[in-house]
Amino acid sequence: MNPTNMLLLTIDPVAAASAPMSGEEMILLTLSIMLLIGTLLIGVVAVYLMLILQKALVGTQPVVEKSVDTRPLWMRFADLQPLSHEKDLVLEHSYDGITELDNPTPTWFMGLFYGTIGVAVVYMLVFHVFKVGDLQLKEYTDEVAIAEVAREAYIAKVAGNINENTVAYVKDTKALDEGKGLYTQHCVACHGAEGQGGVGPNLTDDYWLHGNTIKNVYRTISEGVTEKGMLSWKRQLNPLQMQQVASYVLSLHGSSPPNPKEPQGEKASNETVATR
Ligand code: HEC
Repeated sequence: MNPTNMLLLTIDPVAAASAPMSGEEMILLTLSIMLLIGTLLIGVVAVYLMLILQKALVGTQPVVEKSVDTRPLWMRFADLQPLSHEKDLVLEHSYDGITELDNPTPTWFMGLFYGTIGVAVVYMLVFHVFKVGDLQLKEYTDEVAIAEVAREAYIAKVAGNINENTVAYVKDTKALDEGKGLYTQHCVACHGAEGQGGVGPNLTDDYWLHGNTIKNVYRTISEGVTEKGMLSWKRQLNPLQMQQVASYVLSLHGSSPPNPKEPQGEKASNETVATR
């Protein structure tokens, strides 16, 4: 079994389904991580090689005996000098009293530095010269496209076959709460916070311009009455949402809010209300 397969196996299938990462993406990720580690290693090795070379070249010169290293282990490991060692590090020359310390940047840090240059070169080659990888914008648009497909599938599943001919009045509180949220978000500007009317007609009284059955109201919301200023919502709301907000609108009937707008349209007969 190759390492990529093993990596794929470690993904929880349920989690993978909710946040899908394709095998291709996994391989890319693994490769990138390996690439990063590889470049860092190359950087470190390069610096050490340079150091060895330097030692070999100046090796013939007499070496000044160094005092015993009393630094804590982590400092030695990180190649750092404590402040108390400063006096040992001062170089001999002095320019107008300004002296210099012999305290070069730690090797590992230089390794990191050269590593980033290596990564940058590889990055440029991969993304801009050979264009093997997608840039962020392309990745983003691709993912949005995938999500859009998933969203539509979800809506189709949840909304079932809701349309203006099949829509039914939903009375459960959850649906009506959803409807209320949508109403607050999209409709209050024209129909008032309590449906009392404003730019748009009063939605709580007995008078309707376009009918008061759930199918009528759903249709008005979905198609709009654009020439009269009522927008068509079918692009912004999915069928389920339109069903919820239509049901919420009908649930407002008879709520007699303060400052109602004068009646518009025809008085609905009680039967139509009953046959919602
Ligand atoms: C930009 C203002 C505006 C917004 C926002 C708006 N409406 Fe309307 N609405 C109107 C107008 C104006 C009318 C009257 C249309 C006409 O005269 O035929 C109307 C009519 C209606 C009717 C028909 C009323 C009747 O008497 O038959 C319903 C139902 C309705 N709107 C629901 C909604 C819902 C639900 C929303 C939010 C999703 C909404 N409206 C958002 C302006 C608006």
